[in-house]
Amino acid sequence: MEINSQYCTCLQQLLLVAVALAASAETPRATAQAMPGCPDLCGGLSIPFPFGTKEGCYLNKDFLITCNASNNYEAFLGETNIQVLNVSVEGQLRISSSPAYDCYNSFGNVTKSITSGLTLPKFPLSYTENKFTAVGCDTDTIIQGWHAQDYATGCISYCGEFGDVVNGSCIGMGCCQTFIPKEVLEFDVSVYSFFNHAYVWDFNPCSFAFVVEANAYNFSTLDLVDLRNETKFPVVLDWAIGNETCNDARKNQETYACKDNNSICYDSDNGPGYRCNCSEGYWGNPYLVNGCKDVNECEIPNLNKCTNICWNTVGNYTCSCPKGYHGDGRSDGTGCSSTTKTSIGVITGN
Ligand SMILES: *[C@@H]1O[C@H](CO)[C@@H](O)[C@H](O)[C@H]1NC(C)=O
Ligand SMILES: *[C@@H]1O[C@H](CO)[C@@H](O)[C@H](O)[C@H]1NC(C)=O
Ligand SMILES: *[C@@H]1O[C@H](CO)[C@@H](O)[C@H](O)[C@H]1NC(C)=O
Ligand SMILES: *[C@@H]1O[C@H](CO)[C@@H](O)[C@H](O)[C@H]1NC(C)=O
Ligand SMILES: *[C@@H]1O[C@H](CO)[C@@H](O)[C@H](O)[C@H]1NC(C)=O
Ligand SMILES: *[C@@H]1O[C@H](CO)[C@@H](O)[C@H](O)[C@H]1NC(C)=O
Ligand SMILES: *[C@@H]1O[C@H](CO)[C@@H](O)[C@H](O)[C@H]1NC(C)=O
Ligand SMILES: *[C@@H]1O[C@H](CO)[C@@H](O)[C@H](O)[C@H]1NC(C)=O
Ligand SMILES: *[C@@H]1O[C@H](CO)[C@@H](O)[C@H](O)[C@H]1NC(C)=O
Ligand SMILES: *[C@@H]1O[C@H](CO)[C@@H](O)[C@H](O)[C@H]1NC(C)=O
Repeated sequence: MEINSQYCTCLQQLLLVAVALAASAETPRATAQAMPGCPDLCGGLSIPFPFGTKEGCYLNKDFLITCNASNNYEAFLGETNIQVLNVSVEGQLRISSSPAYDCYNSFGNVTKSITSGLTLPKFPLSYTENKFTAVGCDTDTIIQGWHAQDYATGCISYCGEFGDVVNGSCIGMGCCQTFIPKEVLEFDVSVYSFFNHAYVWDFNPCSFAFVVEANAYNFSTLDLVDLRNETKFPVVLDWAIGNETCNDARKNQETYACKDNNSICYDSDNGPGYRCNCSEGYWGNPYLVNGCKDVNECEIPNLNKCTNICWNTVGNYTCSCPKGYHGDGRSDGTGCSSTTKTSIGVITGN
């Protein structure tokens, strides 16, 4: 029994090493894939195709990232002054946006009032990743837009006592949040107060409002005192190719952006256009010819269900059992059992 299981793991390890050495597949890495011959970085920011920083490196003008080397490698969306923080080949783009705020003195006079907003050229705000957020205890805020579609939403937060506010919880006391609708290409944020912060001024002289990637902002009670140094918040955009559906785009293979044969197309659910994905068993950049590489499932424990021996194949993998064992070698199947042990089992069972 003991000897058997040791033999089994040892053989399994040897075979895994042999398979790993023989396989030409690559393990997924978080590197960008730019168009061959094009820069794939702007400072520390990786820029995967369809995005690019130079003519001939991006799919079309929608995907231009302006990389300003003389400005500490800051990246901007197209020809706008919207700063790009991160680009993912999976269809999202992180930008930075500043808050709107409204500050009062102890006499109830406005000392500073800043509105904020963005007009995006093509890619809408992600309605799943972002929240409209307001911070303050005498705070009435609105976010609205007219371009592409008319909409307005907002939230109100009022609190009488600092002690009532729960640190870390944006649940309507000192901090409130609401959803962003789909297909928002433009927004303007305004901040108002009911009593000019007169009753809360000693702990909350300002109100703030901003769109933010929900996971990137945790409300702290200290933010009631001052959030003015927080000048930038990350915001997620959903990008997509063109304005057609997959079915229409596929009709013109010249312009169809899912270039790799092992890729699939899916329609954006936030505005027009489509995106591509490497098919199951592949990873990489589906927008480039040969951009989707075989995944070596055998090297990644949670990607394969082999109990003993794993063989990588192109686009998939197979499992098998060592000599003297039978079964399909899969944890979701029959696994591997010793031929002799089973026959003994069968005999005793009888
Ligand atoms: C790059 O940044 C510098 C310094 O802020 C600025 O003067 C220059 O106009 C920028 N160049 C481009 C192409 O935006
Ligand atoms: C961009 O996002 C990826 C994945 O979410 C993350 O690993 C990386 O650190 C981010 N880069 C920057 C500059 O934020
Ligand atoms: C505040 O506003 C009132 C009325 O508008 C004005 O009389 C007063 O001088 C202002 N005080 C300050 C400190 O600005
Ligand atoms: C917000 O809080 C959660 C849970 O406490 C934590 O995991 C996360 O890293 C925090 N995010 C930020 C941006 O501080
Ligand atoms: C609120 O929580 C943050 C971290 O989540 C912490 O840094 C801060 O000190 C806390 N504030 C108070 C007043 O406890
Ligand atoms: C904000 O910045 C100013 C000046 O840079 C500083 O005096 C102040 O203490 C900062 N406030 C917070 C809450 O960090
Ligand atoms: C779709 O995009 C093409 C090319 O950018 C443009 O010429 C066309 O007007 C767009 N169609 C619609 C319905 O927006
Ligand atoms: C992709 O498929 C097309 C059409 O089936 C074929 O002509 C082409 O050679 C394939 N490309 C690769 C890299 O396999
Ligand atoms: C794209 O492929 C990845 C990896 O196979 C998968 O996790 C993801 O759900 C796919 N996305 C869509 C929209 O099909
Ligand atoms: C991989 O192989 C398994 C078992 O043969 C099969 O069920 C599965 O559909 C295959 N997956 C792909 C993506 O071809």
